[in-house]
Amino acid sequence: MSNQPFPLMSNKDLPIGIFDSGVGGLTVVAQVMKVLPHEEVFYLGDTARLPYGNKGKDTIIRFSLENGKYLVEQGIKLLVVACNTSSSVALQALQQALPIPVVGVISPGVATAVATTKNGHIAVLGTRGTIASNAYQQAIAAALPSATVYAVACPLFVSLVEEGFLDRQATRLIVQEYLSPLKGSKVDTVILGCTHYPLLRDHVQEELGQHVTIVDAAAACAHAVHDLLVQERLIASSRRQGCYRYFVSDNPEGFRRIGETILGTTIDHVCSDALMQPH
Ligand code: DGL
Repeated sequence: MSNQPFPLMSNKDLPIGIFDSGVGGLTVVAQVMKVLPHEEVFYLGDTARLPYGNKGKDTIIRFSLENGKYLVEQGIKLLVVACNTSSSVALQALQQALPIPVVGVISPGVATAVATTKNGHIAVLGTRGTIASNAYQQAIAAALPSATVYAVACPLFVSLVEEGFLDRQATRLIVQEYLSPLKGSKVDTVILGCTHYPLLRDHVQEELGQHVTIVDAAAACAHAVHDLLVQERLIASSRRQGCYRYFVSDNPEGFRRIGETILGTTIDHVCSDALMQPH
């Protein structure tokens, strides 16, 4: 007989950690809620320092390491880098520095796009930082060397989503402007390579036409996390109910307001003292 008064907590019972520069990574949480409904999730939005998309590589790596370490200190079993900009430049640094599996959004999004395209003409939309890093372009070339890649930075999309400009004429015009280089191209598959872009999905589809398949990196990432948890025998018991805790480094009210729109559910509490201690 064991001397333990209570059953030992298994690693399966630990939360999944997900971080983003801000609120946008909740598009990944929304997908994780669907695909992994029994998991506990700790989400960190670095709202004090967003946006990451226009910052330099070293800064993004430093912020990402701080975010990852913060969540590891909260006792997570696996880290998801929901931010495409962080995934583009900091994934390797995180994997080297942290003692748990770390999953980014790039590989899952690329795997889905490569499996989807029929003619090898793939477009990726992202922040300036993501596009400048070449991470998507290189990952597509590695997976499908014959592919033609069209990489388009759409920096204003994040602000439009954060302002709640989802169904506005101004948004349609900006989408048209950014996507004009793709009009008349042979692109048949588009990767939404930024946390915020799934909220503009309908505009992108309307602009490029129904013959184009849109790949949401957030959804692809949630499936990759599922597969990894199964493989590592870390998936939570189906007897458990999923639960969610939100941490931010600033502006909890703004986070809650936009976050509830993204998730389509209420956010009861946001802890606003994340990242206060130096890491
Ligand atoms: N989360 C970022 C991304 O997915 C977009 C917002 C930002 O620039 O911080 O690239």
